[in-house]
Amino acid sequence: MTVLGDPALQRLLATLHAKSDEQAPVIASFDARRAGGARDEDELKSFRSDKLVALDRDKAEFCYQLCRAIDARRIVEAGTSYGVSTLYLAAAVRDNVRGAGGSGIVIGTEHEPEKARAARRHFEQAGLSRFIDLREGDLRETLKQIDGPVDFMLVDIWIPMARPALALVSPHLRPGAIVVCDNTGLYRAEYADYFAFLQDPRNRFHTMTLPFNGGLEFSVFCQA
Ligand SMILES: C[S@@+](CC[C@H](N)C(=O)[O-])C[C@H]1O[C@@H](n2cnc3c(N)ncnc32)[C@H](O)[C@@H]1O
Repeated sequence: MTVLGDPALQRLLATLHAKSDEQAPVIASFDARRAGGARDEDELKSFRSDKLVALDRDKAEFCYQLCRAIDARRIVEAGTSYGVSTLYLAAAVRDNVRGAGGSGIVIGTEHEPEKARAARRHFEQAGLSRFIDLREGDLRETLKQIDGPVDFMLVDIWIPMARPALALVSPHLRPGAIVVCDNTGLYRAEYADYFAFLQDPRNRFHTMTLPFNGGLEFSVFCQA
């Protein structure tokens, strides 16, 4: 018995995770070559344009479980890429709706048109499109409008975008909402502004770094 309990979706996800895993060494050697060198944003953008950089399988399954546990109905995902994590989140919404009725949506965000096109194909293939509102463009624009309380947010985005994404969504979080952010152990220093936001008492988060590979930030938006 898998966490998702959906063999067709598991097969699609297995191919996408395999593709993402294949790209990991290429990304690691690119990053090693760039380390300490001058940043060339155009080179970086072009290199990243066909990379999935999908959320690890165990982290994605954990997000699915969290969304089931809190009966998440409105989810925001900062960073959709080819849609791997989105599929887990949308499966959770589908299963919550199936279990208790009502409706639900995952708001995804992606600014690379090719990636967004591929993600939409995957959503169709999985039969999950009706649970996903993929917003194309820069999330600093596309997340300005959120209609209703947010139960869960996944932050899996280039690090400088993590804080702007959280700052836009946090006014919409309902008490008890969960925010998960990837690789906060590995890139602790780079996430300094994200942590400053989480740790500012006015923003009402309680947070801890879970020991997944690279660290996974688990933050709860509280009443007080
Ligand atoms: C780590 S990947 C997301 C992986 C995805 N969550 C998954 O599991 O498949 C981050 C994605 O965020 C996108 N991105 C980066 N900056 C963005 C921005 N300002 N607005 C929207 N998308 C952005 C990138 O193009 C990239 O595809």
